[in-house]
Amino acid sequence: MSSAPRLALLPGTFDPFTNGHLDILERAVRLFDQVEVTVAVNSSKNTLLTIDERCTLVQECTAHLDRVSVAAFEGLLVDRARERNATALVRGLRQVSDFDYEFRMAFANHKLHPDLETVFLMTSEEHAMISATVVRDVHRWGGDLSAFVPPPVVEALAEKRTATD
Ligand code: PNS
Repeated sequence: MSSAPRLALLPGTFDPFTNGHLDILERAVRLFDQVEVTVAVNSSKNTLLTIDERCTLVQECTAHLDRVSVAAFEGLLVDRARERNATALVRGLRQVSDFDYEFRMAFANHKLHPDLETVFLMTSEEHAMISATVVRDVHRWGGDLSAFVPPPVVEALAEKRTATD
């Protein structure tokens, strides 16, 4: 008996995509048949990168991975999950401070779509302190980002600095 491929969504703003995101994605690929990195337009956030820039960078950073796709989306995540017939949402948990927000989001998504599971993966130790917020701050002051983000993001952010200098 063959079953349908199991798709998970890895949703986020990815402003920008970090080594922590990549670690969670690489581990999610081992658990599911396919993983879609679902990049939220997130118009309520004043993002450093445009939606097109964020999607392009995720594509570049994940080019080595099979069974991964990248899509921009606007709206409710559960609607995207229904549209794609996804089995699960994957989120990374770094610290206890993430838990409150993640718990509320998982609870809301469960109310809206009870068949969709949220799966939390604990971050690897070396990525526990990386966040897109920290990356944006280091970028703002011209610091070295190579320990925090994959090479395509280092390059794109360096170009952005040059363009705005
Ligand atoms: O990387 P982020 O900013 O923590 O990701 C947050 C994101 C995009 C996953 C979340 O804001 C989201 O799901 N937005 C879509 C709107 C939605 O479905 N809201 C209901 C759940 S709170």
